[in-house]
Amino acid sequence: MKNILLIGGTGFLGGAIARRLAKADFRLTLPTRRRERAKHLTMLPTASVVEANVHDEATLACLMAGQDLVISLVGMLKGNFQRGHAELPGKIARAARATGVPRLIHISALAAAGDAPSNYLRSKAAGEAAVKAAYPEATIFQPSVIFGQGDSFLTLFAGLLAIAPVVPLACPDARFQPVWVEDVVSAVLASLDHPESRGQTYPLCGPHEYTLKELVAYTGKLSGHPRTILGLPLALSYLQAFMMEFVPGGPMTRDNVRSMQVPNVCPAGCTLPFGLTATALEAVAPGYLAAG
Ligand SMILES: NC(=O)c1ccc[n+]([C@@H]2O[C@H](COP(=O)([O-])OP(=O)(O)OC[C@H]3O[C@@H](n4cnc5c(N)ncnc54)[C@H](OP(=O)(O)O)[C@@H]3O)[C@@H](O)[C@H]2O)c1
Repeated sequence: MKNILLIGGTGFLGGAIARRLAKADFRLTLPTRRRERAKHLTMLPTASVVEANVHDEATLACLMAGQDLVISLVGMLKGNFQRGHAELPGKIARAARATGVPRLIHISALAAAGDAPSNYLRSKAAGEAAVKAAYPEATIFQPSVIFGQGDSFLTLFAGLLAIAPVVPLACPDARFQPVWVEDVVSAVLASLDHPESRGQTYPLCGPHEYTLKELVAYTGKLSGHPRTILGLPLALSYLQAFMMEFVPGGPMTRDNVRSMQVPNVCPAGCTLPFGLTATALEAVAPGYLAAG
């Protein structure tokens, strides 16, 4: 049985990876800031959920000992991007190198670039650079927005559509190529059987492109709340996001608006690596969004 450390493994994507790895009998360690929040994963027979401060280098070194693979997944849509997206991946990569962990996988984001318009995308690019500097053979994945049961994208819109008769939508023309969470998991796991994936970076996308407005309209149709969607021009998109920054747990920030100025789509014909076939949104979303 192999030992795998998933840092940031208690969230939406990490949980899906953990469930698949646990089924395959891998021994998993899942650090979290609050064990209470990761209760759903303590049920996995081979998983150990531990409270730990992964920003602390001594703690990281302890967590790495004896691991055969480390998957780095920490991410956030608001908060301290420099610390969580840029510095932490560097610390993880250096600790993995220093403790002799033979394999490192890092989850970044599609469109991450040093000259991107948002702090989110620039910090993701800085994280990639820090990983490559310390651990050049790391495999990096850059997913577009990820959908699936428990996502924080379509599910969030479904919640808003249930209560709002009219939806004023920021960045209605923003482009996405959503990828199914299980396809992302498959790509991550397949990379382990593809030694040529060491040192490579793979964008991950679903088979089709959509505008944000199309995705929200589709969510409304599926969830039984088809609403009028009023696309906001850019200035009003920023204003709406600015106001939402004052709402605890608000769904949008101005930095999110800046991220959406860059198409979140893969190069034509390139969706998943390793011969995997991308699953269509329409094949999955009705299963978790359809009005019950
Ligand atoms: N979901 C998407 O659509 C999407 C698209 C592109 C890229 N990605 C990337 O994929 C990765 C996983 O995303 P996700 O959707 O699974 O995220 P998620 O559900 O929000 O989970 C985030 C994970 O990061 C940890 N975390 C968050 N802030 C932290 C901090 N300040 N210090 C330490 N740990 C922290 C959380 O651990 P706790 O247990 O401590 O809360 C949790 O395990 C991220 O890197 C994200 O940027 C996601």
